[in-house]
Amino acid sequence: MNTVETEQLEIKLLLEALYHRYGYDFRQYSQASIKRRVLHYLSKTNHDAISALIPSLLYDEKSFKSFLFCVSVTVTEMFRDPWFYDTLQKEVFPFLKTYPFINIWHAGCATGEEVYSLAILLKESNLYDRAHIYATDFNDRALQKAKDRIYPLERMKDYSTNYQKSGGKFSLSDYYHAQYDAVIFDAALQKNITFANHNLATDGVFSEMHLVLCRNVLIYFNRDLQNRVLSIFRDSLCYNGFLCLGSKETLDFSGVRNSFIEVARKERIYQHKNDRGRLER
Ligand SMILES: C[S@@+](CC[C@H](N)C(=O)[O-])C[C@H]1O[C@@H](n2cnc3c(N)ncnc32)[C@H](O)[C@@H]1O
Repeated sequence: MNTVETEQLEIKLLLEALYHRYGYDFRQYSQASIKRRVLHYLSKTNHDAISALIPSLLYDEKSFKSFLFCVSVTVTEMFRDPWFYDTLQKEVFPFLKTYPFINIWHAGCATGEEVYSLAILLKESNLYDRAHIYATDFNDRALQKAKDRIYPLERMKDYSTNYQKSGGKFSLSDYYHAQYDAVIFDAALQKNITFANHNLATDGVFSEMHLVLCRNVLIYFNRDLQNRVLSIFRDSLCYNGFLCLGSKETLDFSGVRNSFIEVARKERIYQHKNDRGRLER
């Protein structure tokens, strides 16, 4: 067995151990990405081999929490891919307008920037008051940041540009207060948002969702886990409900492709068909 194979075996044993100890399942993450993250975590510790992490992570929950934060890439931004939000407003919002209550699941919401972006656009379309957004992630530290609504002031210039490109109607600064080098977004934006821990690798469906967004999360999963998660999204959506993925993610080649029609290719927006393969009228 050469060094690369031995390293792979160490990662396999580590992930197996963590699954049995904590129930967090990284075994079906894409090998390249989990290896990068484990090596990144290793470089921040005093250990010199991946296998040496096993006892420390198994016995010390605090270390496991740091590992979790390090392994899950929480990079995100407000109004990421503004053309996506523009199309969402044009193609999906008119459909949402036909419902008295709107259920939205934002899976893999990281530190919340995307969730507040959506909340702002829903508000500007007079849809926020009848919407409820379930914003989930498996990373509690990220969820706490999302609940806090505090972000660096230095990011606001780029976010404002993206907000305008997304079709935002006012000024992004209408929605936050700046203090020193940070801003806090208005509490009113959080009124209809429930942040909760949900692990896409092990947990189940939400029901009767009209819109599910899960962007830039599936890229970290292998094909089997992607299929598991996409089935959960399909089963969570009501007929005619919409699914939005990240720009590098697709339903093509997945087990659920036939349950959806493609609404916007570049923006990765799909609509759930009924059992007879049609959209409900
Ligand atoms: C790169 S961020 C994407 C954030 C946001 N959706 C966006 O596009 O800007 C990926 C997020 O997926 C979350 N994640 C990774 N694996 C997960 C899992 N098994 N269950 C739930 N969330 C997961 C990470 O914690 C992280 O917050």
